[in-house]
Amino acid sequence: MAVKHIVESQQFTLPRIMELFERTELMKKIVARGGTRDYDNKIMATLFYKPSTRTRFSFESAMYRLGGKVLSTEQATEFSSEIKGESIEDTIQIISNYCDAIVIRHHEEGAAKRAAGVSPVPIINAGDGSGGQHPTQALLDLYTIYNECKTLDGLSVAFIGALDQGRTVRSLAYLLSKFDRIKLYFIAPDEMQIKPDILEHLDEKGVSYQLANSTEGILERVDVCYQTRIDKDRLNNANFDLSPFNIDTNVLKRMKFDSIIMHPLPRSVEISPAVDSDPRAAYFRQAHNGLYVRMALLSMVFDA
Ligand code: CP
Repeated sequence: MAVKHIVESQQFTLPRIMELFERTELMKKIVARGGTRDYDNKIMATLFYKPSTRTRFSFESAMYRLGGKVLSTEQATEFSSEIKGESIEDTIQIISNYCDAIVIRHHEEGAAKRAAGVSPVPIINAGDGSGGQHPTQALLDLYTIYNECKTLDGLSVAFIGALDQGRTVRSLAYLLSKFDRIKLYFIAPDEMQIKPDILEHLDEKGVSYQLANSTEGILERVDVCYQTRIDKDRLNNANFDLSPFNIDTNVLKRMKFDSIIMHPLPRSVEISPAVDSDPRAAYFRQAHNGLYVRMALLSMVFDA
């Protein structure tokens, strides 16, 4: 089945994931030789209702590297006609007249799906709501794990942070559940634990998982530590100590020598800058991969 809209990560089958990885390797070669003009007849629109550094810039760079053109609005809540009360459905039907794909980040969960419901051109979800999905981030995360660990089977992965609102964690959990002998750890303050829908999916798939509120005894054994931000303002107890969730050079000493640390970024205090120089710190390599994976995704939707 051709890829049209990219709305949620679970729509990617194993063959599609492998095709994406093959295309990603090709994109690395294309960028190394200065890009291509293969898609110079294509226009991509980026419609971002919420702030972004990595996702918007990497998609726009990806489109330019493919030879295409970009229409863009950041702060679409202010600089699109949403401010005059226009619905997402109407906005998409208008913008789709002017481009060949729309990359959208929206403040409402389900907005990308609603956009896909009315759009004649591919919709790519660049993050919806606080508890929705961020499938292209999860695909670049999966590619990074594959690239760093050389396998996707038999891995143990710890997710840390405000997991109930973790779009990237939710999307990546769906993807990892497709592989064999995966073990997932969800480490969060109790009030921010991963939502039941993800656990139900893991139960259906027979994926082993554990919920925890401390990294103790877990980071020592995992292959991948996937750190995310915790917004302290969301905690009921203002004095709640978040430091046990942070990664610093002391925590590094507890981790396996061949493990990796990932983060979708941006980070706050949850990974000390002193960790950056450790070879296990994969988060900047992860962000770099975003360019190639998004080029590959764009090529897949344009070639469909
Ligand atoms: N990881 C991610 O989505 O980053 P941005 O918010 O900067 O796009």
